[in-house]
Amino acid sequence: MVQIILVLILAYLLGSIPSGLIVGKVFYKTDIREHGSGNLGGTNTFRTLGVKAGLAVTLADILKGTLAAALPLIFHLDINPLLAGIFAVLGHTYPIFAGFRGGKAVATSGGVVLLAAPYMFLTVIVVFFISLYITKYVSLSSMVAGITAVLYAVVSGLVRNWDIPLLVVVLLMASFVIYRHRANIKRIVNKTEPKIKWL
Ligand code: G3P
Repeated sequence: MVQIILVLILAYLLGSIPSGLIVGKVFYKTDIREHGSGNLGGTNTFRTLGVKAGLAVTLADILKGTLAAALPLIFHLDINPLLAGIFAVLGHTYPIFAGFRGGKAVATSGGVVLLAAPYMFLTVIVVFFISLYITKYVSLSSMVAGITAVLYAVVSGLVRNWDIPLLVVVLLMASFVIYRHRANIKRIVNKTEPKIKWL
C-alpha cells in the first residue's frame, strides 16, 4: 500500500514538471503564462515562442503522461496504469512546482492514453488534426479529441470487449479537458478565440 501511494505521488510530481515554464524561462527568458492565453501548455508555447519550443513542450508534456502511466509497470505494482496517469494529469494541471497554475490536461492525458491504448491514441491524433485542419482552433480540436477517445472506448466495447476502467478514465479526462477549456469555449462563441495560421 505504501508503495502504491509513493508511486501515485511520484506520478503527480512527474506531471507537475512545468515543461512550458522551464523551456520558456531557460531558453527564452520568458514566462509563457504572461503571454497569449496565459496557459502553461504546448499551444501557448507555440503561440508565444515558436515551433521549436512548442514542439519540445508538447512532446515533454505527452511524455510525462506516458512515463507516469508506466510507473506501476516499472515498479511491478498491481494497480491499473491509468490510475498513475490520472495523478500525472492532475500534476500537469495543478503543478506543485509552478504555483498550481498549469495546463489544460490535453497533452498529458494523450500521453497516458498512448501507453494504455495506443490505437485509441492514433485515432484521437488523426481526428485532432482533421478537426484542426477544418476549424483552425486548437482548443476546439482538443475537446473533439477528448470526445473521440470516449466514443472509441464505447465503440470498441460494443464490437469487441468492454474496458470499463479505460472508459471511465477517458470519460473523466475528456470532461476535465472540456472543463479546463471554459474560457476558450466563451471565446469561440464570441468569435475571439485565435485560429492557427499554419495548417
Ligand atoms: O492544449 C491546450 C489547448 O487546447 C488550448 O490552449 O493556449 O489556446 O488556451 P490555449
